[in-house]
Amino acid sequence: MTDIYTGAKTRLRAYRREDIDAALAYINDPEVKRYLAPGIPFPLTREDEERFFAGNSANKDCYSFAIDTLDGRYIGGCGVHQVDWKNSVCEVGIFIGDRALWGQGFGTDAFGVLVRFAFEQMNLNKVRLRVYDYNLRGIKSYLKLGFKKEGVMRQELFKDGKYHDIVMMGLLREEWTGRMKNEK
Ligand SMILES: CC(C)(COP(=O)(O)OP(=O)(O)OC[C@H]1O[C@@H](n2cnc3c(N)ncnc32)[C@H](O)[C@@H]1OP(=O)(O)O)[C@@H](O)C(=O)NCCC(=O)NCCS
Repeated sequence: MTDIYTGAKTRLRAYRREDIDAALAYINDPEVKRYLAPGIPFPLTREDEERFFAGNSANKDCYSFAIDTLDGRYIGGCGVHQVDWKNSVCEVGIFIGDRALWGQGFGTDAFGVLVRFAFEQMNLNKVRLRVYDYNLRGIKSYLKLGFKKEGVMRQELFKDGKYHDIVMMGLLREEWTGRMKNEK
């Protein structure tokens, strides 16, 4: 049987206290932040990060994983958030914090594991996400996983002196299951 947390290049695991320094460095890297924070990009403090760690395991509508390479290097994070149990929908998100690893398939692999977890372990019917229009790498990665563009929220994001659109993307369990069958 497949290990539910493991993909071809990455493994998802619970966050550990010793991840805090690397997590802070990743999230405070302005290049990474460009793709993540919709709010004011004020640097995250150690206290903010400690609060996240303290609340993480207790929060039942938010399941955050650290992402490791298969040889055990912590490279980023991903999670299932805003779980709407009645409608069986959730929001998913991801970041690979080590920029040297962008474009090498680690993020796509880890996100595939997360999506499988949402469908096969959480019994969700749909996962959705928001991505900034300039994040072409992200959009391509999600299309590769089978996400479809569902709409565009025009000028929802103000970053670096101008407005940008936010693209809404979603993946249904039936679409994902169909793809898995075809890949076998
Ligand atoms: C978005 C992210 C998760 C994608 O993971 P990844 O492992 O880097 O993605 P991949 O290596 O599978 O690349 C996806 C596609 O983008 C393409 N790509 C890579 N760099 C690119 C670039 N600078 N511009 C456009 N496309 C690019 C790749 O060629 C690949 O397409 P292909 O398989 O057809 O060749 C990861 O890059 C990341 O964490 N980025 C920073 C944070 C972020 O954007 N988070 C998501 C917020 S919604």
